[in-house]
Amino acid sequence: MDKKVELDKLLDSIDTGAEAPVSEPERQFFYMAKCREWTKAEKARLGRELTFHVQTFGCQMNAKDSEKLTGILEEIGYVETDSENADFVIYNTCTVRENANNRVYGRIGYLGTLKKKNPGMKIAMCGCMMQEEHVVEKIRRSYRFVDIVFGTHNIFKLAELFYESLKRGKMVVEVLQGTDMIVEDLPSERKYPFKAGVNIMYGCNNFCSYCIVPYVRGRERSRKPEDIIHEIEELAANGVVEVMLLGQNVNSYGKTLAEPVSFAKLLRMVNEVEGIRRIRFMTSHPKDLSDELIQAMAECEKVCMHLHLPVQSGSSRILKAMNRRYTKEDYLALVDRIKAAMPSISLTTDIIVGFPGETEEDFLETVDVVKKVGYDSAYTFLYSKRTGTPAATMENQVPEDVAKERFDRLLQVVTEVSAQRAQEDTGRIEEVLVEERNEQEPGLVTGRLSNNLLVHFPGDTDLIGQIVRVRLDECRGFYYMGTQSIR
Ligand code: SAH
Ligand code: SF4
Ligand code: F3S
Repeated sequence: MDKKVELDKLLDSIDTGAEAPVSEPERQFFYMAKCREWTKAEKARLGRELTFHVQTFGCQMNAKDSEKLTGILEEIGYVETDSENADFVIYNTCTVRENANNRVYGRIGYLGTLKKKNPGMKIAMCGCMMQEEHVVEKIRRSYRFVDIVFGTHNIFKLAELFYESLKRGKMVVEVLQGTDMIVEDLPSERKYPFKAGVNIMYGCNNFCSYCIVPYVRGRERSRKPEDIIHEIEELAANGVVEVMLLGQNVNSYGKTLAEPVSFAKLLRMVNEVEGIRRIRFMTSHPKDLSDELIQAMAECEKVCMHLHLPVQSGSSRILKAMNRRYTKEDYLALVDRIKAAMPSISLTTDIIVGFPGETEEDFLETVDVVKKVGYDSAYTFLYSKRTGTPAATMENQVPEDVAKERFDRLLQVVTEVSAQRAQEDTGRIEEVLVEERNEQEPGLVTGRLSNNLLVHFPGDTDLIGQIVRVRLDECRGFYYMGTQSIR
């Protein structure tokens, strides 16, 4: 039976007058059933559907959490809408850089004006920003119209928190400092029918000195391999052909399990799942990328020829201050081993410019790494000071104008290097997963190459979700124009 139909039946059978169960996920099913009674009455009262909108800020981990929130809201009886003019709006926030926070604050005020027009509107704030005390304080003080505030460790509790806010009629705040709990089997709604993200671990133990993630996402916890494989088998049975394994540092997967399993072994297990055609993963920390993993990647035919390997800086001195635990030489040697095993691999990276103490010489080392590795693309960030991290109190913070000037220079190098890389593949015929209709040019569809680049080509929308062969006719910097090939 379809999972959603199965859960619907289960919720219908729950006695909502009984005591709430203590174990999970049963407790959440109980609250979903209770909230569903409320939405039913509310819909009858208003004579219309109730709508919701989940806005995701931040990384793929947050996007995945938003799918879980969506799954719960749909179970409760809301229908999704693209607009924030909805009956239930959730902001799933990010705090990795200061501008991520500012974007959120700028928009909560707007939600307040919407709520004035629709007083029955519910507003929830969750995600990484909410793990910071000063943020919650600010919301309590300045945005009193918010109904629910929760963090990264209790997103599975949305139904329970919602029920509580209905009962209490005032702001409900629940932010946990950490958890060792992983709740399985909750509903989750996928954005695409043919590809899906799969959490393999939560949290991070690395404490890179600039990074807030370990503070807001807690300690590293891995899901059991059998739970992961079971989920992927179910996805495959429902038409998913590509999975993206998600974790802040997938290379240290499995170390904390009662029976440790390496990420390389997990990859081989996923490779065996029938129906899955492509496997991707994010993110890899260079210090934990083993030769065992390189070999597994090379041998597993479903693993895409793309590796995101954040370098952050090319200067060994800065890398040490960043607590990255590798040197420039270690990184370049690792890249050599990867390229030797997989000559066609596409490498992408993250780089921070303007870390405290960065000199012109340090910066030139970064430029050197970009040129030596020849990245297919690189995400470049201006260093952003995060309160509570060791780097925030370091001396020699780099003046903004200096950092900005370096940033612009780096961007230019990155653009040149990646355009050159893309040019090399022009004329080839490659397999692509067709993902969507091209918004700009009707008649075109967009496919993703194994190396993660996009190609636009004439095709019908019924190709969406299929893997087809496409000739890369023309390179336009970061993407190609192509034609479907029957060969
Ligand atoms: N876990 C991943 C990255 C998560 S954050 C990893 O270790 O690779 C995504 C990227 O944001 C990081 O790779 C880093 O380049 C950038 N970043 C993190 N903290 C930052 C900060 N304080 N200022 C600027 N960029 C930052
Ligand atoms: Fe942040 Fe480093 Fe963990 Fe990545 S590995 S999430 S950069 S602390
Ligand atoms: Fe942002 Fe949280 Fe991801 S801080 S980058 S959404 S883990």
